[in-house]
Amino acid sequence: MGVCGSLFQPWKCLVVVSLRLLFLVPTGVPVRSGDATFPKAMDNVTVRQGESATLRCTIDNRVTRVAWLNRSTILYAGNDKWCLDPRVVLLSNTQTQYSIEIQNVDVYDEGPYTCSVQTDNHPKTSRVHLIVQVSPKIVEISSDISINEGNNISLTCIATGRPEPTVTWRHISPKAVGFVSEDEYLEIQGITREQSGDYECSASNDVAAPVVRRVKVTVNYPPYISEAKGTGVPVGQKGTLQCEASAVPSAEFQWYKDDKRLVEGKKGVKVENRPFLSKLIFFNVSEHDYGNYTCVASNKLGHTNASLTLFELNEPTSSTLLQEVKTTALTPWKGPGAVSEVNNSTSRRAGCIWLLPLLVLHLLLKF
Ligand SMILES: *[C@@H]1O[C@H](CO)[C@@H](O)[C@H](O)[C@H]1NC(C)=O
Ligand SMILES: *[C@@H]1O[C@H](CO)[C@@H](O)[C@H](O)[C@H]1NC(C)=O
Ligand SMILES: *[C@@H]1O[C@H](CO)[C@@H](O)[C@H](O)[C@H]1NC(C)=O
Ligand SMILES: *[C@@H]1O[C@H](CO)[C@@H](O)[C@H](O)[C@H]1NC(C)=O
Ligand SMILES: *[C@@H]1O[C@H](CO)[C@@H](O)[C@H](O)[C@H]1NC(C)=O
Ligand SMILES: *[C@@H]1O[C@H](CO)[C@@H](O)[C@H](O)[C@H]1NC(C)=O
Ligand SMILES: *[C@@H]1O[C@H](CO)[C@@H](O)[C@H](O)[C@H]1NC(C)=O
Ligand SMILES: *[C@@H]1O[C@H](CO)[C@@H](O)[C@H](O)[C@H]1NC(C)=O
Repeated sequence: MGVCGSLFQPWKCLVVVSLRLLFLVPTGVPVRSGDATFPKAMDNVTVRQGESATLRCTIDNRVTRVAWLNRSTILYAGNDKWCLDPRVVLLSNTQTQYSIEIQNVDVYDEGPYTCSVQTDNHPKTSRVHLIVQVSPKIVEISSDISINEGNNISLTCIATGRPEPTVTWRHISPKAVGFVSEDEYLEIQGITREQSGDYECSASNDVAAPVVRRVKVTVNYPPYISEAKGTGVPVGQKGTLQCEASAVPSAEFQWYKDDKRLVEGKKGVKVENRPFLSKLIFFNVSEHDYGNYTCVASNKLGHTNASLTLFELNEPTSSTLLQEVKTTALTPWKGPGAVSEVNNSTSRRAGCIWLLPLLVLHLLLKF
């Protein structure tokens, strides 16, 4: 209900009566096409919310009375304003044109408006539809989410606008995957670590540029040691053992030598930790440093370990003093003298499957 209707309830009857008296009986029947007689209103008017709409009616000098109506409410009759809505103003009332303007148009202004005239004592009307468009707007969107791998997620993006906007979801980073849903809802069952990253909801209609919002999806998973490097170093040289693990949240690392934990700050040894990497650095390797070391990577979802060996290298000559032996998790036995195993405490079943080949390998190597 606009100002006209709500403020002038008692007027309603009066308005209709006045209309009858005046001449104006809106028939709601649009002018027949091809009918050259007046009034001739413009085609439908489309404006965006907040803009002004001009309603124009072309007339001629045979016209004796004119009015613009919103449904059955008179807005203007001649130069007289009949409605209280300050947004409605008279633009022109000449012998050829009768126009009003509706300022700051809102969605409830949408609908039929009628130009009504009296020509040669015959009332005639012409109807124009005011269509109000609204830019898309995202009114509700899921918050950033942190979830453990394997769980289900459901993201929501609710948008408003006129016409009704199209809503889509895209997976945009770490690498752009493209559309994952052409809908307000995005459901992912059994989410994987590859599905983590930024998701973008886009709402578009042809009124304005699409609006986008992002949701960050963090997928947590237990550590996985991807690389553990054993090293051969001569006595008196610098040696480094390196352990790489991916995990979300980032893994914390601990080093053990023969089941004894190495405490940080031990003389001549330094541990360097980064989110996905830990280095055990020996500044001046001595005989008793050689042996088997275990790197343990852990986060709140689990832990895993890998063992690697610092072994003696007998030719302390050339510039390349370090001989690094690369091993990866899935190829545990590689290279002379280097021992590397990856134990996966998060997967007991997988551990048992690995146990057999490992035992066989142990046996084989003993001969
Ligand atoms: C037109 O009529 C509708 C319905 O009564 C009302 O909500 C709206 O405010 C009116 N608009 C104008 C410009 O009079
Ligand atoms: C004007 O708008 C009305 C209502 O949306 C529609 O029924 C009519 O076909 C439109 N007329 C033109 C000429 O676009
Ligand atoms: C994920 O959704 C599937 C299918 O609706 C359901 O069977 C499963 O229990 C859900 N998993 C979790 C962790 O909620
Ligand atoms: C390494 O340690 C040995 C024995 O303690 C010592 O003789 C040697 O000078 C050290 N080397 C360096 C570079 O510190
Ligand atoms: C290191 O581990 C390997 C295999 O587990 C074993 O054969 C070797 O004797 C160990 N070396 C030391 C110094 O404990
Ligand atoms: C890894 O697990 C195997 C048994 O699964 C065990 O024999 C081995 O000692 C473990 N390695 C380390 C470094 O703990
Ligand atoms: C390494 O993992 C194995 C198997 O899960 C476990 O038995 C062992 O205690 C772990 N070693 C360390 C130092 O955490
Ligand atoms: C550890 O277990 C997880 C979960 O079962 C598995 O995805 C991963 O491949 C395993 N890592 C290794 C090194 O076996």
